[in-house]
Amino acid sequence: MKALILSGGKGTRLRPLTYTGAKQLVPVANKPILWYGIESIVSAGITEIGIIISPETGEEVQKLTGEGDRFGAKITYILQEEPAGLAHAVKIAQPFLGDSPFVMYLGDNLIQNDLTPFLNHFQDKQLDALILLRPVENPSAFGVAKVDQTGRVLELVEKPAVPPSNLALVGIYYFSPEVHQAIARIKPSERGELEITDAISNLLDHKNPVEAQILEGWWLDTGKKDDLLSANQILLDSELQTAIFGELDRDSQVVGRVKIGQGTQLINCSVRGPVIIGENCHLENCFIGPYSSIADGVTLKDVDLEHSVILQETRIEGIQQRIVDSLIGRRAQLGTGRPRPKALRFMVGDDCHIELA
Ligand code: TTP
Repeated sequence: MKALILSGGKGTRLRPLTYTGAKQLVPVANKPILWYGIESIVSAGITEIGIIISPETGEEVQKLTGEGDRFGAKITYILQEEPAGLAHAVKIAQPFLGDSPFVMYLGDNLIQNDLTPFLNHFQDKQLDALILLRPVENPSAFGVAKVDQTGRVLELVEKPAVPPSNLALVGIYYFSPEVHQAIARIKPSERGELEITDAISNLLDHKNPVEAQILEGWWLDTGKKDDLLSANQILLDSELQTAIFGELDRDSQVVGRVKIGQGTQLINCSVRGPVIIGENCHLENCFIGPYSSIADGVTLKDVDLEHSVILQETRIEGIQQRIVDSLIGRRAQLGTGRPRPKALRFMVGDDCHIELA
């Protein structure tokens, strides 16, 4: 069994961050999203992993993630020149996959469940495809499945205007090598992509065994800001353990589960967990509320922050209002320079969102 993680794509829904970096490397609880997927694949006993990368962000993904030693895996990087669809990614990975069955994992997805029970089901029943489904409120935004009571898939449709059910396809699939034949038989969709839903529908048309299982735990597709903040909240809630390596002065206090990295200094700060603060940060006169993740090298002065993700080397100073529900990119600078500012002065990149709530 091998694994194929898709870490290419355009990432338009997470602009402007994806102009300069891979969305799969945006940290959730200070760890790149992609790494959670790798860890969960390795926990299921799969160590031969191929990662699809794009020309724009591939080098960064490769540099940060490495050859797999840190995960106990062997990683092969596969360059996809154009984001021509999920099935296209499988097609170009064929030399890596050979005739091995594989799990395909979308690099911006996170699930709570262990992958092993699904893998066992896929292998025991000798399926050609096992898909995972989860009920959602807005099925039109996803690939949607219609299944009968035994779990047999009847129909799959990509982002339907009139959805046949509320069951969305989660970004994790198990395939036998039969899928390569199905991909060879399909044509690009109207949006010009080779769709994995079409490949699975093609397996169904050819009476290959395809089943679906309902995912009971949480599933997060971190491709948008609010989903990413939810993922951050859930992971801080479920995985964070207290560990203080940095320095707190006597006027600082920490309540609840809080992790503070080495070389970080807190002066007159109050931190209410769950909160993670990276290494070499400087925080002065701040309140850091629950569900905040602050990456390495960040400076915060006179800041009140909650339910937010701040990326590396950002500097925020003297903001009077509480910063909430925010995702702030690397090396950003936000500041007022005076206690009661009379004007707002911006230099904001393309596709940024600023909301004075
Ligand atoms: P999507 O989130 O569906 O596509 P995207 O990354 O282009 O994002 P957006 O819709 O915001 O523009 O892709 C799911 C995952 O698959 C994601 O990790 C990117 C990856 N992917 C590839 O590796 N190759 C591809 O051709 C496509 C379409 C996606």
